[in-house]
Amino acid sequence: MEDITRQNGDYWEAMAAHRRGVTVEYLQSGGEVVSPEELAVIGPVDGRRFLHVAASVGDAALSLALQGARAVAVDIAPSHVETGRAKAAELGIDVEFQVGDMTALRADLTGFDTIYISWGGLCWVPDLRAWVADMATRLTPGGRLVIAEHHPVWEVLSVTGPDQLTLSASYFEQEWIGPRDLAKEPQVVKELGLEWRPHKAFVWNLGDVISAFLEAGLVVVALRESQVPQMYAGFTHAGHLPATYVAAAERPSGH
Ligand SMILES: C[S@@+](CC[C@H](N)C(=O)[O-])C[C@H]1O[C@@H](n2cnc3c(N)ncnc32)[C@H](O)[C@@H]1O
Repeated sequence: MEDITRQNGDYWEAMAAHRRGVTVEYLQSGGEVVSPEELAVIGPVDGRRFLHVAASVGDAALSLALQGARAVAVDIAPSHVETGRAKAAELGIDVEFQVGDMTALRADLTGFDTIYISWGGLCWVPDLRAWVADMATRLTPGGRLVIAEHHPVWEVLSVTGPDQLTLSASYFEQEWIGPRDLAKEPQVVKELGLEWRPHKAFVWNLGDVISAFLEAGLVVVALRESQVPQMYAGFTHAGHLPATYVAAAERPSGH
């Protein structure tokens, strides 16, 4: 495992004991975990084989399994995986949880209709092209790699005062320009004031994502950008800025 990934794994494991995700009752009552926008791109769920990587406590995999998917959830932090397994047991559903590095997945994790990464997962991939190329080989022909993420424009901008936006990182170079924006730290870090630990995340811009799809021989089937004004709280014109995106690409049939 690369040093960066090991360090990032330790960073997440230190937080994992404090992260529970949504409640089992919420999942049982059909509460939304994967949004309609994501589901529109994922396509049919029932009976399909689904892999969620950087899955945290596996809420998306659990939610999709409740909708009929055969789901596997992989995360590098063992405590996240334990929490997910306990939730699956409580729900009485069969979701396979694995501790693993998404940049070095087990060879037998293959033949998926959907591979999905979401909401703060992609930034832990150090080499996007290599990672997408590997995911492409794990899809069935016609299967989709779906990325639902914070928009890279949001990643590099910080609201630093009323109606004041500051560039905190480069859209192109993944270098921090200004101080780290605490608003973008994981919720538990903010809530519990956990001690800072070394870690390294990457900003992948939309050109990087689309280029990686194309170089892997995938066919781009969706790229939807959305505004989420509360993600730029304090900035009046937040509705004019992208906050999230969903991108998807398909392995061509016959490949
Ligand atoms: C912000 S959380 C993702 C949240 C999740 N997608 C959700 O919506 O609940 C980031 C996750 O990435 C995991 N992670 C970081 N590096 C990883 C790696 N190399 N392989 C697998 N998981 C990784 C962390 O343990 C953490 O659970």
